[in-house]
Amino acid sequence: MDLAIFLATLLFGFFFGNKSTVASFTPADSYLIVCGSSQNVTLLDQTYIPDSTPQSSISLKSQGAASVTYTSNSSTTLPSPLYQSVRIFSTTASYKFNIKQEGRHWVRLYFYPLPNSGYDLTSATMTLVTENFVLLNNFTFKNYNGSHLFREYSINVTSDTLVLTIIPSNNSIAFINAIELVSVPDELIPDQALAISPSAPISGLSARAFETIYRLNLGGPLITPQNDTLGRTWVNDKKYLHVNSSAVTVAVNPLTVRYRALATQEIAPNWVYATADHMGDANVNNVNFNITWVFRVDPNFTYFVRLHFCDIVSKAMNNLVFNLYINSDLAFGSLDLSTLAGDLGVPYYRDFVSNSSADSNTLTVSIGPDTMADVTDAIMNGLEIMKMNNEFRSFDGLSPVETILPVSASKKNKRMAIIVGSVAGSLGVILLLGLCLFCLGCGRRTKDSQQGGHSWLPLPLYGNSLSLTKMSTSSQKSRTASCLSLASTNLGRVFTFQEIMDATNKFDESSLLGVGGFGRVYKGTSEDGTKLAVKRGNPRSEQGLAEFRTEIEMLSKLRHRHLVSLIGYCDERSEMILVYEYMANGPLRSHLYGTDLPSLSWKQRLEICIGAARGLHYLHTGATQSIIHRDVKTTNILLDENFVAKVADFGLSKTGPALDQTHVSTAVKGSFGYLDPEYFRRQQLTEKSDVYSFGVVLMEVLCTRPALNPVLPRDQVNIAEWAMTWQKKGMLDQIMDKNLIGKVNPASLKKYGETAEKCLAEYGVDRPSMGDVLWNLEYALQLEETSSVLTEPEDNSTNHIQGIALNPPPLEAFDNSSVCMVEGASCGEEDVATSAVFSQLVNPRGR
Ligand SMILES: *[C@@H]1O[C@H](CO)[C@@H](O)[C@H](O)[C@H]1NC(C)=O
Ligand SMILES: *[C@@H]1O[C@H](CO)[C@@H](O)[C@H](O)[C@H]1NC(C)=O
Ligand SMILES: *[C@@H]1O[C@H](CO)[C@@H](O)[C@H](O)[C@H]1NC(C)=O
Ligand SMILES: *[C@@H]1O[C@H](CO)[C@@H](O)[C@H](O)[C@H]1NC(C)=O
Repeated sequence: MDLAIFLATLLFGFFFGNKSTVASFTPADSYLIVCGSSQNVTLLDQTYIPDSTPQSSISLKSQGAASVTYTSNSSTTLPSPLYQSVRIFSTTASYKFNIKQEGRHWVRLYFYPLPNSGYDLTSATMTLVTENFVLLNNFTFKNYNGSHLFREYSINVTSDTLVLTIIPSNNSIAFINAIELVSVPDELIPDQALAISPSAPISGLSARAFETIYRLNLGGPLITPQNDTLGRTWVNDKKYLHVNSSAVTVAVNPLTVRYRALATQEIAPNWVYATADHMGDANVNNVNFNITWVFRVDPNFTYFVRLHFCDIVSKAMNNLVFNLYINSDLAFGSLDLSTLAGDLGVPYYRDFVSNSSADSNTLTVSIGPDTMADVTDAIMNGLEIMKMNNEFRSFDGLSPVETILPVSASKKNKRMAIIVGSVAGSLGVILLLGLCLFCLGCGRRTKDSQQGGHSWLPLPLYGNSLSLTKMSTSSQKSRTASCLSLASTNLGRVFTFQEIMDATNKFDESSLLGVGGFGRVYKGTSEDGTKLAVKRGNPRSEQGLAEFRTEIEMLSKLRHRHLVSLIGYCDERSEMILVYEYMANGPLRSHLYGTDLPSLSWKQRLEICIGAARGLHYLHTGATQSIIHRDVKTTNILLDENFVAKVADFGLSKTGPALDQTHVSTAVKGSFGYLDPEYFRRQQLTEKSDVYSFGVVLMEVLCTRPALNPVLPRDQVNIAEWAMTWQKKGMLDQIMDKNLIGKVNPASLKKYGETAEKCLAEYGVDRPSMGDVLWNLEYALQLEETSSVLTEPEDNSTNHIQGIALNPPPLEAFDNSSVCMVEGASCGEEDVATSAVFSQLVNPRGR
């Protein structure tokens, strides 16, 4: 962990030397001013010009008594060279800046009560305002715990000048050391974000001003303004961690961070995305902890929270799925990072608006595991918290600019009337009114906001990215296309969106069953009381749209006792909703580990594996065209109320090789840990890729641990490699689930281990077909059942068990009566060629 920081620091030293790696945004307005100085101050590459320099674009106006300037001679103990001079005022003074380009600007202010200036600057009390916002209100170092003050505001300037007015309060004096006024790219702060508790999109942010309170580079070193294209400072987060040891830092080479979709170099530099905190001691059996950061905030304000993410830990897509909380409220459930970002190593961010936690002066941000995810991990790379101006357009107190600067009040009479009116009321009324004003400001978004005002709405629907509009237009297009193609086939019942809402109690979070790359799955009940599983696609995912169609088309043609049936779908309102039969006992994985469910017996496990193998075998051979599942894993094998296993999630399915090809070439998809190494290497897909994944499932069922657990020692991380080494030694029983010890017939276990081993063969050609796998699992079940009937001395040979007549595999194994095609595909005899590898298994019926 410390090594990571060390390496990151080294990288910093190395790359920061090379200025060209920081692409630069060129601000239209850029004023860097040192106040009271008689000479330029150069700080790294930037020159700060004295405020006394005659410039047409800036003017300093001081009413009455002149200002005093003081330049300190010794700069050795100063926090920054910008603090070595100061301008002191005894009356109200203002700096007026000409603005070339309207829009958001940084206003950065530096204050340091220089000793020996001839004035007692520590007791100076000052108020600082722009035309619209109160930045400081009666600030004095006497009540401040710190030697110097740096403030950064982001203000949308909507006129051709910005006037900063400094007012000494109560016959005191005021001072300032340096000012920066620099343009910010318009995209930096969007107009919308998601409010937390109640969860609803909120607009009107473009009119608000922000004050930076915290800006953290999680798990990484300090990033100075020179290394940020917008001159920001990012500090390490360690002191804000609630439990210091809960996070493990990780760092990669910043040059491997690729800006693709949402985020740009301006949103945050790659140095931020190249380091992160992620979950530490993620022990398989005790994954229940969050990483929490705690921040002190003024509870009288609302905060804009921007969280930065970049998956720099995963080896494959869709592995990192986690929950995000703000003040213990779920801000984003099942955040599937790689899907949202589009790829690994691609920066992504999310904006929220939140108050401090109830009855406290803290704001907390937590990330924690999603119990349905394959890998237990959560990550965050950067965090920004900005205070938003209150309804008095102030960052400090309840006085608007108008009451502080009565002279200019006439300009804003209208707004004043409203505010004065509300001041008369109680604080509660004031807050309400402020809210109303804010809502009015939302203008044309109000309708959408209402629609989205329900807390059940998942986040992605109301994202704030600029690309969203473009995205939804194209989604619209594809949806129309899908309607046309869907209309021509019989695809089951078409549900209205209202029916879906009623069935799921408006997608109540408490009925969430799980989350996948495609979207969220809710439990529902139809009007006749039938239980349903409602899978709601994420509308922003183009990939999802394609998969939606694939899945409907595919599923509507397939009916099998061991495949989860599609009941219908809904594509109203750009929704992609699939309705399936409800599987009462949920995913197989939840019966293996990570939950408190009772342990499955060996016989139950065998029956479940056999059921799943039948489902896959049917996919591979039952239809006119072979279907490759592509994402076989324990969360895609579901159990009904009688523990009958059914294969689910054909979202990733692709039809198998046509006659002229021996494989389907396609982008690598699927879940890491289950991925066929051959498929991974050659991007070629055959049914044998599913067989490999099924081998991983078999090992997982036996050993009850995740396919991939990155926190284990290196040789144990990947279950396929780890279990294979034990299987080759014939010692699989050493690593199997402790609950099975002494309750498994060794011959059955041996057969099972051999079957899994064959499935996990390096090369597809060496792996058995699903039909062969099915035979062998049936055989393992036979061995288990006969052994429990006859308590014979154990015989480790699987070829013959003396004195026991081997029953034939149950007829159902190859009974087509359980297979029913809706259309097309014939239900011919499967070609279950008994391979040489499995030749010991001769069908006793001579079939
Ligand atoms: C200060 O910097 C400005 C802009 O870089 C330059 O034009 C000016 O000559 C400098 N003044 C002195 C005294 O160096
Ligand atoms: C600034 O405010 C104006 C007027 O409210 C708005 O049109 C503009 O989009 C805002 N700019 C930014 C960058 O928020
Ligand atoms: C919040 O506002 C109340 C009422 O104006 C005030 O008494 C309190 O000090 C404020 N809290 C903080 C932390 O400033
Ligand atoms: C993480 O924090 C959230 C919010 O406080 C809480 O609901 C959840 O149970 C926590 N998760 C774990 C595993 O502690």
